[in-house]
Amino acid sequence: MSQELLDLARVEAGQMPIHPADVDLKALLEQELEIVRPRADQRGLELKLETPPGLRAIRADPERLHQIVDNLLDNAVKYASEGTPVEVAVHNALMRGEISVANGVEHDAPDPERMFERFYRGDPSRSASAAGVGLGLSISRELAAALGGKLWAELDGSKLRLRLTLPAGL
Ligand SMILES: Nc1ncnc2c1ncn2[C@@H]1O[C@H](COP(=O)(O)OP(=O)(O)OP(=O)(O)O)[C@@H](O)[C@H]1O
Ligand SMILES: [Mg+2]
Repeated sequence: MSQELLDLARVEAGQMPIHPADVDLKALLEQELEIVRPRADQRGLELKLETPPGLRAIRADPERLHQIVDNLLDNAVKYASEGTPVEVAVHNALMRGEISVANGVEHDAPDPERMFERFYRGDPSRSASAAGVGLGLSISRELAAALGGKLWAELDGSKLRLRLTLPAGL
């Protein structure tokens, strides 16, 4: 946890070094999904990736972006309701790109605003089994802002969707 708190303090102080580059989101997400696939398989969760034809690059620090996406996918695979798919999608917008990660939250939907608070844990009954401390999303939101982007959540019935927008590539 100390590394995470240190990260949080550094981003907040504007002291997180950012090295922007053009990033191919399709390639990045394919790699990230392979990392979580064994854990998704263990929980019987199907991983889906949807990318539009002619997807443009976005501008981001690849290492920081990895940190955000890793947090989002880790959460999805950890907290998705049994048997719901984890749906990852990428979209182009005029001046930005968007990644969304959605999963089912059948019995215990978290609060889509409060989940970005430090140390917020949705369902206390799972605290013992899932090892998180509740910092992943607060760090991810700060990192997204440091990259000139935005991270938020939307709850649509029993589906939770995390949305990340980032500036378009050069
Ligand atoms: N994809 C998701 N589906 C359902 N609930 C989620 C999802 N992502 C986050 N949550 C809820 O929001 C809480 C906060 O998430 P966050 O990533 O900040 O912390 P954590 O996963 O508990 O711990 P850490 O990321 O620090 O290891 C989680 O404990 C969980 O209750
Ligand atoms: Mg987490």
